[in-house]
Amino acid sequence: MQFKPRPDRRHDSTGPANVKSAAAAPAGATIHPIGVQAVVHALRAAAEMAGFAPSILDSQPWRWRLTGNTLALYLDRACIDHDVDVDGRLAIISCGAALHHARIALAAAGWRLTMNRRPDPADPDRLASLRLEERSLAEPAGAALMSSIPLRRTDRTPVTGVPIAAAQLKAVTSAVRAEETSLHVLYPDEVLELARVASGGLPVPSGSGDRSIGVGPAGLADGRGATFALLYGHTDEPEDWLRAGEALSAGWLTATAAGVSVLPLSAAVEVLATRQAVQIMIGCVGYPYLLLRLGHATMPPSGPRRARAAQVIDRR
Ligand SMILES: Cc1cc2nc3c(=O)[nH]c(=O)nc-3n(C[C@H](O)[C@H](O)[C@H](O)COP(=O)(O)O)c2cc1C
Repeated sequence: MQFKPRPDRRHDSTGPANVKSAAAAPAGATIHPIGVQAVVHALRAAAEMAGFAPSILDSQPWRWRLTGNTLALYLDRACIDHDVDVDGRLAIISCGAALHHARIALAAAGWRLTMNRRPDPADPDRLASLRLEERSLAEPAGAALMSSIPLRRTDRTPVTGVPIAAAQLKAVTSAVRAEETSLHVLYPDEVLELARVASGGLPVPSGSGDRSIGVGPAGLADGRGATFALLYGHTDEPEDWLRAGEALSAGWLTATAAGVSVLPLSAAVEVLATRQAVQIMIGCVGYPYLLLRLGHATMPPSGPRRARAAQVIDRR
């Protein structure tokens, strides 16, 4: 059995119903038949690659449902730690990062897809879906980012004193903006101001790496040579957080490819005093989602990568 792609009204296909004729395809594109096994394999592989995505407290708060040629992404509310993530924003940003990883995996494997991020009021935890349409040539840009997926890590070590190059920052900024999220690079006096506010702000609970990080030891205080950048947007809805997560993934994978280390600093946005400070830095016209420290790692990532949870929960 083979899937029948949606009719493409741009061309008259002269081949079998499920195969576009090469003559009718856009220049350079090679269209292959789509078989059920190939579709299931591709979607499962994409969900597996999504397991490498960064997530708040390494909670991996997503689940996938595979139905036909569609992979749907769900928020797993049971994974949300409301002490750290009051509104679930960080969990949904994490889901967005997983979604982007899955998109990259499919693009790198040469799948053309349709994405739907429309929220469904009847099913609010369903965040997005990816529907495979047809096979094409693998996207070179996707392949480049794909190779960064297993290499990407959170870098909590102090950065070297050497700032990242303008070209590296531009590449990260462009990758974020391409995912329809804004990035504000903090000026040195804004970093000082944020550190000042943070030192007088509410205490961040101590404990795991994430909780203690706040804007503390591995954050702003060790930030000499670091560049700080704020992901933000003009509205503050779950769909914006999902896009912010896709942008986070795009920027982070680009940074990894460019040899730039990344450390998210979520407390800077979650703690009221610093949130107000960063809001002023973006001219009070936007909503801050996540602060990032960019720099050069002092040491390469060590130790085995964390185990990934089973990624596909359901197949229908
Ligand atoms: C939305 C979000 C917020 C995060 N906030 C922090 C943070 O404040 N401090 C920190 O050390 N790591 C933070 N992280 C990184 C996660 O802890 C990290 O992704 C997770 O532990 C998995 O490790 P890995 O990124 O090396 O794969 C955050 C990640 C995401 C996606």
